Amino acid sequence: MTYLANQAKITINTLNSYKKEKQKIAVLTCYDASFAKILNLSGVEIILIGDSLGNVVQGHATTIPVTMSDMIYHTACVNRGNTKCLLLTDMPFASYNNPETAYVNASKLMQAGAHMVKLEGGEWLADTVNYLTIRGIPVCSHLGLTPQSVHILGGFKKQAITIDSALQLEKDALLLEQAGVCLMLFEAIPHDLSAIVTNQLNIPTIGIGAGKECDGQVLVLNDILGIFTGKAPSFSKNYLAEGNNNSTIEGAIKQYVEEVKNGKFPE
Ligand code: KIV
Repeated sequence: MTYLANQAKITINTLNSYKKEKQKIAVLTCYDASFAKILNLSGVEIILIGDSLGNVVQGHATTIPVTMSDMIYHTACVNRGNTKCLLLTDMPFASYNNPETAYVNASKLMQAGAHMVKLEGGEWLADTVNYLTIRGIPVCSHLGLTPQSVHILGGFKKQAITIDSALQLEKDALLLEQAGVCLMLFEAIPHDLSAIVTNQLNIPTIGIGAGKECDGQVLVLNDILGIFTGKAPSFSKNYLAEGNNNSTIEGAIKQYVEEVKNGKFPE
């Protein structure tokens, strides 16, 4: 598997070239240095220090209680174990409600080791995205099921299922790309919609429950190892479960990467 050998340090340019060459991007969440080291040996391109740590590390029901200090702490931990992956960190709930606040908070995450920050939301974030990118902070947008808005959405449900909401997501994606985002994440949206939007964008897209046409895939590390005690989403896969023939964590992660790369995951 050549993609595991001599892997160079991953940058935005690497991700863009993957999109052009139709090479899939493998992303996993991670919250500490030990797992970061394993991910570095497993062929993952992007490590997401996700605010899902609120669920899988802290035991909360939502990501809303996660704070800036939590995100700074976990970004610094992952950074210490990282040598070559691009580190993408979630900006937590209420930390980016205007461009100036977003800049102050995003700067702290960059200083802790992040290479890019992720913001949940559409059109309303265009000014903030522009404000951050012209000041040297790369941004990833998160559209579709945005867990920080769970109480507005009325639960963790599939999004963009009506024509109007699908058109809105398409509009959001194009506007945000114009505003400067470098990467876009789609969560729990119809697969044909993510395919249509992915084809219109020049930047890479990463999907979770959004179909195989995205330029890459992301899952929550604890879900693929079956060590999350809550209910894992139906679009996830436990690579340590019987039948996958993996007896080690590293083996399970490598299988996930391989299945993203060869298109076997998602099915
Ligand atoms: O926080 C997180 O882990 C995420 C993923 C669900 C994409 O945003």
